Amino acid sequence: MSRISFFGGRLLPAAFFLAFALIVTSAEAPHAVAQAVPDINELPPGPGREEVFYACYACHSFRIITQQRLPESTWDELMDWMVEKQGMPPLSPEDRKAIVAYLAKHFSPTTPR
Ligand code: HEC
Repeated sequence: MSRISFFGGRLLPAAFFLAFALIVTSAEAPHAVAQAVPDINELPPGPGREEVFYACYACHSFRIITQQRLPESTWDELMDWMVEKQGMPPLSPEDRKAIVAYLAKHFSPTTPR
């Protein structure tokens, strides 16, 4: 008796809610993951691509990078700006060199759009 009212009163609705929540989250998860995972193929291949990928994907899409056409000195300054104003963890000197060289090579003012 008390068992039936227990199931009928609390546990059953709770179980339904849990099952529903599981269905909803498992249906949504692949979608959310597909949007959140950045794709390295958005960056043209070449030395420094991996460094750029790992240093830059955390905060914004690669679109904001690949649409730029900047000289090397501006890319270099942008790394300071990203650290000082946007909270990017400072790059190691080697990574910074690789990243700036990559960006200057692939997204310079003479790169075709
Ligand atoms: C900690 C977060 C963070 C990381 C990591 C980061 N950025 Fe940014 N970046 C930002 C934010 C925030 C903005 C947008 C600022 C704004 O809206 O004005 C931005 C803007 C930019 C812009 C646009 C600048 C402009 O003139 O509008 C470029 C280009 C850029 N980032 C390149 C990079 C590159 C390259 C890397 C990797 C080396 C990188 N970012 C890593 C936070 C970050």
